[in-house]
Amino acid sequence: MSGTVLQQARLATMVSGGTPYGLIEDGALALSEDGRIAYAGPRADLPAEFSGWPATSLNGRLVTPGLVDCHTHIVHGGNRAREFELRLEGASYEEIARAGGGIVSTVTATRAASEDDLVADALRRLDTLIAEGVTTIEIKSGYGLSVEDEIKMLRAARRLGRERDVRVVTSYLAAHAVPAEYKDRADAYIDEVVLPGLDAAHAEGLVDAVDGFCEGIAFSPKQMARVFDRARALGLPVKLHAEQLSDLGGAKLAAGYGAISADHLEYLSQESVDAMAKSGTVAVLLPGAFYTLRETQMPPVGALREAGVAIALATDCNPGSSPMTSLLLTLNMGATLFRLTPEEALAGVTREAARALGLADDLGTLEAGKIADLAVWDVETPAELTYRIGFNPLHSRIRPSGQTGAA
Ligand code: NIG
Ligand code: FE
Repeated sequence: MSGTVLQQARLATMVSGGTPYGLIEDGALALSEDGRIAYAGPRADLPAEFSGWPATSLNGRLVTPGLVDCHTHIVHGGNRAREFELRLEGASYEEIARAGGGIVSTVTATRAASEDDLVADALRRLDTLIAEGVTTIEIKSGYGLSVEDEIKMLRAARRLGRERDVRVVTSYLAAHAVPAEYKDRADAYIDEVVLPGLDAAHAEGLVDAVDGFCEGIAFSPKQMARVFDRARALGLPVKLHAEQLSDLGGAKLAAGYGAISADHLEYLSQESVDAMAKSGTVAVLLPGAFYTLRETQMPPVGALREAGVAIALATDCNPGSSPMTSLLLTLNMGATLFRLTPEEALAGVTREAARALGLADDLGTLEAGKIADLAVWDVETPAELTYRIGFNPLHSRIRPSGQTGAA
């Protein structure tokens, strides 16, 4: 086996338990031809077996694991700039949703779009994320709300992963909103669309996990349990938008199904924090939605820390509550709005985001055996990635395919 060595590199390995950020000042990485990290550690300790491999100097640049955006809705039709204006005039997110705006208005635009349209539109957003060092992105359906349109969204998501050098992980989110044709018939919508759509999308290999929106304006815990039962029968992991606007106990329900993540969580109770700790469910915090909706209820970061719940951060890129395509800005917001430390914020888009996707064995830290997905930065300290606002210091991404994406 051969490969390449990267040296004169400062490594933020994000391996927990040692130095902050798992930082190695004079580090080296050996990347084997099979796309895995063969060695990540001090240059002085590089094993002799790698010293014959061709070496490249990174001139002291900082290397982190490739960034992971573990919660996005980047595939969608249209935009909601008008709704933004209405909210500035005083309408709430819930009022807009109940009046037929919100998610349901994006459904109209998404249904009208072809798969090609969805891909072309999403590529602009995806490229912006990639330019900031993202190497893995989760993409949800949830704006089709018919079997055919949910499948169209998931096919578009998979295509994005073929059109760009990025790993795409999909989530089936038909239980995102009740479409107009099923108004006040949420259970019938689950029976006639959500469950058969899940079977069909899974049969086509389009589903990596099953998600839902558990909220007064969407689905109850009881209804979500029906969806999760089907996911379990198909052997698919589950996750949930929970406790974003009120506390319905969604995160506790999700934890009971061994959910990989519960997301948003502003109104999370202590009981649900404990349930998440027990099941190892990752808390995915979404400061872009908190900011856009001018939410004032903070997610219980202290209680999550205390209970040892892993905390991830994501853009939640969507046309309504978080029209944001910057994971670096998400880091800054996670620190400034939610008081995460810069180290927690960076772990939230690397190690813990990988865990939130069930990919902790392969991604999220710089360690021998993991996939060689890297981001190389023109910064001196890892905290700079969180500290700056609107500045992109990415030098390059390195992925096993051998392609690099310059910033
Ligand atoms: O994650 N909370 C529900 N779903 C999205 C919002 C989608 C929308 O408003 O279009 C979210 O914030
Ligand atoms: Fe979301």
